[in-house]
Amino acid sequence: MLVLGIETSCDETAAALVEDGTRVRGEAIASQIAIHQRWGGIVPELASRAHVEHVLPVVDEALAQAGVAVDAVEAVAVTRGPGLVGALLVGVQLGKALAWARGLPLIGVNHLEGHLAAAFLDAPDGTAARPPSFPHLGLLVSGGHSEILVVEDHGRHRRLGATRDDAAGEAFDKVGKILGLGYPAGPAIDRLAATGDPRAIDFPRAMKGRGLDLSFSGLKTAVAQHVATHGAPAGDAALADLCASFQAALVDQLAGKVERALDEEGLGELVVAGGVAANRGLRAAMQAVCARRSARLVVPAPARCTDNAAMIAAAGYFRLRRGERAGLDLNAVASLSLDERAPAARGRVRR
Ligand code: KG4
Ligand code: ZN
Repeated sequence: MLVLGIETSCDETAAALVEDGTRVRGEAIASQIAIHQRWGGIVPELASRAHVEHVLPVVDEALAQAGVAVDAVEAVAVTRGPGLVGALLVGVQLGKALAWARGLPLIGVNHLEGHLAAAFLDAPDGTAARPPSFPHLGLLVSGGHSEILVVEDHGRHRRLGATRDDAAGEAFDKVGKILGLGYPAGPAIDRLAATGDPRAIDFPRAMKGRGLDLSFSGLKTAVAQHVATHGAPAGDAALADLCASFQAALVDQLAGKVERALDEEGLGELVVAGGVAANRGLRAAMQAVCARRSARLVVPAPARCTDNAAMIAAAGYFRLRRGERAGLDLNAVASLSLDERAPAARGRVRR
C-alpha cells in the first residue's frame, strides 16, 4: 500500500510516499530554519504561512521523486498533533482535501508515534530495515518531548518516565542560545562537542536515583552560571570543551536511565527516536549501553530522526492496516500526548 505522509507540525514542511510502512519511494522537505533563525526561535504565524506556501510543492516533489502521479496514492496520513496548531492545520486541511477529492482512506497520526515508527523504515541508502520486535524500550528525545517508554505495539505505549521540565532538544537549543550558536543549536553543539574534552567542566548529572523521570533545566542553568562566572568561552577550543561537557552531562543522564529501564523491564531491544537521536554522542552512548546489556539498538539514520514525513506515512500505514480511519472531522490537537487517552503530561513523579 502506497501511503502519502504529510508533516507540518513545527518548522519543516514535509511529504513522503512510503510503501507498506517501510520502503520510502519519494520524500521532500522544505526547511524553515532560515525564516526563524533571525528571531532565535520559531514564530508560529510565520511557520503557518510558510507551510501554506510549501505544502503543495513538497507533495509534488515527493510524487516526482517516486515517479508516480497522485492517482497512485492509496491512502493519506497526516500529523494531527502535537505541535503548533496553526501549522498542524495546514497539513490536516490538505490531507482531508486530498482524501475527500480522491476518495482515499485518511488517518491522523500522532507526531511522537511517527518518530518511533521511523525505526521501521529502510535506510536512506535503501538498506532494508531490521525493525525491532514488540515489546521494546523506546527513548523519545525531541525539541518538545523527552520520554522513556515501553512500546508494546504500534500505537500502544506505556510511559516509564518523562522530563519534569525542559525536553532534551530544548536544553540543546537553550544552551546554544546562551553560547550564541543560533537556532536550532543541537547540530552545532554536536559538531563542536566532537572536538572538545567532555571532562573539561564537571556539569551536574541530574536525577540520579530518582526513578526514570528526566530533568534538563538544572543543567541549562549550570551552563548559564558557568558563563556568568567565567565569561563566554574564549576561543574555539574553550567553546568546544564547554559543548562537549554539556553534551556529556545530558547524555550521561539519558544513558543511566535507559540502562536502568532495560534492566528493570527485561527488554532486549532499544529504539532511540526524535531529533536529539541524531546526536553522535547520544548514539555512541546508547550503543555502549546496549553492548553492556546485550541489547540491540535500533536508531534511524540522522535525517529520519529529525522531523520528516516518511515516519508519518509509516505510522499511518500501521494504523490503516488495523482498519483505523479518520473522518473529515479530523482536527489538529496541539497538546496531543502519546497516550491519547491521557492529557499531555510533562512528567510523572516516580520514586
Ligand atoms: O524531532 P525534531 O526534529 O522536532 C521536534 O519534534 O521537536 O527535534 C528537534 C530538536 C531540536 O531541539 C534540535 O536542536 C535537536 O532536535 N537536534 C539535535 C541534533 N539534531 C537536532 N540535538 C542534538 N544533536 C543533534 N545532532
Ligand atoms: Zn519531531
